Amino acid sequence: MREKIVAGNWKMNKTLDEGKTLASEIVNMYADEVSDDVKAILCTPFINLPSVKGIIGNTKNVFLGAQNCNDHESGAYTGETSVPMLKAIGVSYVIIGHSERREYYNESDEFLAKKVDAALAGGVTPIFCCGEPLEIREAGTHFDYVTKQLTASLFHLSADQFKKIVIAYEPIWAIGTGKTATSDQAQEMHEKLRQHLASKYGDVAEEISILYGGSCKPDNAQEIFAGKDVDGGLIGGASLKSRDFIEIIKSF
Ligand code: 13P
Repeated sequence: MREKIVAGNWKMNKTLDEGKTLASEIVNMYADEVSDDVKAILCTPFINLPSVKGIIGNTKNVFLGAQNCNDHESGAYTGETSVPMLKAIGVSYVIIGHSERREYYNESDEFLAKKVDAALAGGVTPIFCCGEPLEIREAGTHFDYVTKQLTASLFHLSADQFKKIVIAYEPIWAIGTGKTATSDQAQEMHEKLRQHLASKYGDVAEEISILYGGSCKPDNAQEIFAGKDVDGGLIGGASLKSRDFIEIIKSF
């Protein structure tokens, strides 16, 4: 059985106090209202991670995630944060290859492969993001574009390593735009991605959770999650409101 996962990517939002409030609300609502086996992951800004971990504690099915990591274990990399540092404060997941990092910080497929290696070596699960820009979707080459992203950054892994990856498909034209992919578009891409993974890893592909991200909200989550290859969501804007985030989790 593939894991059902809803991860909140807070991006560069929430000061420490605001983040603590949001995390407390989510943890309390999760405990009171969520009975299904859905993993919730809070991917907060670095500076909020230790405090949010304190709030999550050992709450069943709620986990801490980072939004980035460095590809080295330690050393002279001013301003950076390593995977062992994240692991030491209780981070279980790390987002790698978000389109905003690819675009604004020029993170290439090859560089992302190194981050994936660093995360796996340090025992933190990568949530590896892929997705096409609008012009690629309009040109009709989106399957090719996205499968190539996976090949370039992940296909050097062994099957055992690959089992530990979570994938998030986030069409760039749907991020923060209010324009979500239709449930058919999401399912169609997820199925293609799973077939692509199977071409390299065989049955392991069936065990990999593939999340959808891009303007996922309480009012469209249920339809999107209904796709048989859609195993959850990576939520931006709606993860900043505890009620919305919980309602998305309850959409399964
Ligand atoms: P939105 O849900 O705000 O569109 O963001 C999606 C996203 O980028 C999550 O990583």
